[in-house]
Amino acid sequence: MDTLSGKTVLITGASTGIGRALALELARGGAQLALNARDAARLGASAQECAALGAQVLAVPGDVCSEQDCRASVARTLERFGKLDALVNNAGMTMWARFDQLTDLDGLQRVLDVNYLGAVRMTAAALAHLKASRGLLVAVASVAGLTGVPQRTGYAASKHAMIGFFESLRIELRGSGVAVTIVAPGFVKSELHKGALGPDGRPLGRSPMDEPRIMTSERCAQLIAGAMRRRQRLLITSGRGRLARWARLVAPALVDRMAERAIRLRR
Ligand SMILES: NC(=O)c1ccc[n+]([C@@H]2O[C@H](COP(=O)([O-])OP(=O)(O)OC[C@H]3O[C@@H](n4cnc5c(N)ncnc54)[C@H](OP(=O)(O)O)[C@@H]3O)[C@@H](O)[C@H]2O)c1
Repeated sequence: MDTLSGKTVLITGASTGIGRALALELARGGAQLALNARDAARLGASAQECAALGAQVLAVPGDVCSEQDCRASVARTLERFGKLDALVNNAGMTMWARFDQLTDLDGLQRVLDVNYLGAVRMTAAALAHLKASRGLLVAVASVAGLTGVPQRTGYAASKHAMIGFFESLRIELRGSGVAVTIVAPGFVKSELHKGALGPDGRPLGRSPMDEPRIMTSERCAQLIAGAMRRRQRLLITSGRGRLARWARLVAPALVDRMAERAIRLRR
C-alpha cells in the first residue's frame, strides 16, 4: 500500500507544473489533498482533476507572501481533514538575466519573498500540526540552491536561503518525529521559465528553455512522491545535479563551467 494513502498533504503552487503534477500523483496514491496557489480558477481546475481520480481535495487559494493567507490555508486544511501530515513548499518563481544587466532590483526581492520567505511563512503556520502528526516537511528547492548558476543570481540566492533554512530546521526538529525532505530539481518543463523575470523585472512571456529536452513535471513529481514515501533527506532529480554535488568538492571550477554550459544550451 502507498504509505501516503490517507495522509493529508498541503501543496503550495499546486495549480501548474510540478505542484499540479505532484497533486495528481498523490491523488492516484490515495492522499487527501489541500491545494494552494493564487489563481483560484487554475487551482480549481487542478483540484477537479484530483477529485476525478477519486481523491478528497480542497482548494485553498492564497498568496505565500501573505502570512494571513498561509495561516488561513493551514486552518482550512485542518477544518476539512482534521490533521496535516505533510506540507510541500513548492510555490516559486524565477528570473532570467545577468546581474549586471538588471535595470530593476525589485525582482530579486520578489523572488526571495516568494521562494524563501513564502516557504518560511507556510512552515510557521503548519509546524505545530506537523509535530502533532509526526509529519513531513518538503522543500522544493533547486540545484541552483546547491551551486551558483549564471543569469539566476536572485533565484540561486533564494534557493540557497531555502536550503539553509530547512537544513537548520531539520536539526532543530530532531526527536520531534517531523522529517524534512529537500528536493533539488534540475530543469523541468512547466510554466516557470515563461514567467521568469527578465532584466527589466518583467516576465519574459516565453520560455527560453529547450523545452522538449528537459524533464517533465510528471516525472519530477513521481520522483518527489518517492522521496516523500521514503522520508528521504535530499533528492537531486538529475544525473548532472548529482554529479555536480560531488564534483564541487574536488573541482569547483568545473562545476561553474557545467552551470555555464547548461544555461548556454538551455537544457
Ligand atoms: N521548472 C524548473 O526548471 C524548476 C527547477 C528547479 C526547481 N523548480 C522549483 O519548482 C517549484 C515549482 O515550479 P514549477 O516549475 O512547477 O513552476 P510553475 O509551473 O510556474 O508553478 C509555480 C506555482 O507556484 C504558484 N505561485 C507562484 N507564486 C505564488 C505565490 N506568491 N503564492 C502562492 N503560489 C504561488 C503558481 O500559481 P499562481 O501563479 O496561481 O500563484 C504555480 O502554481 C518552484 O519552487 C521552482 O523554483 C523548478
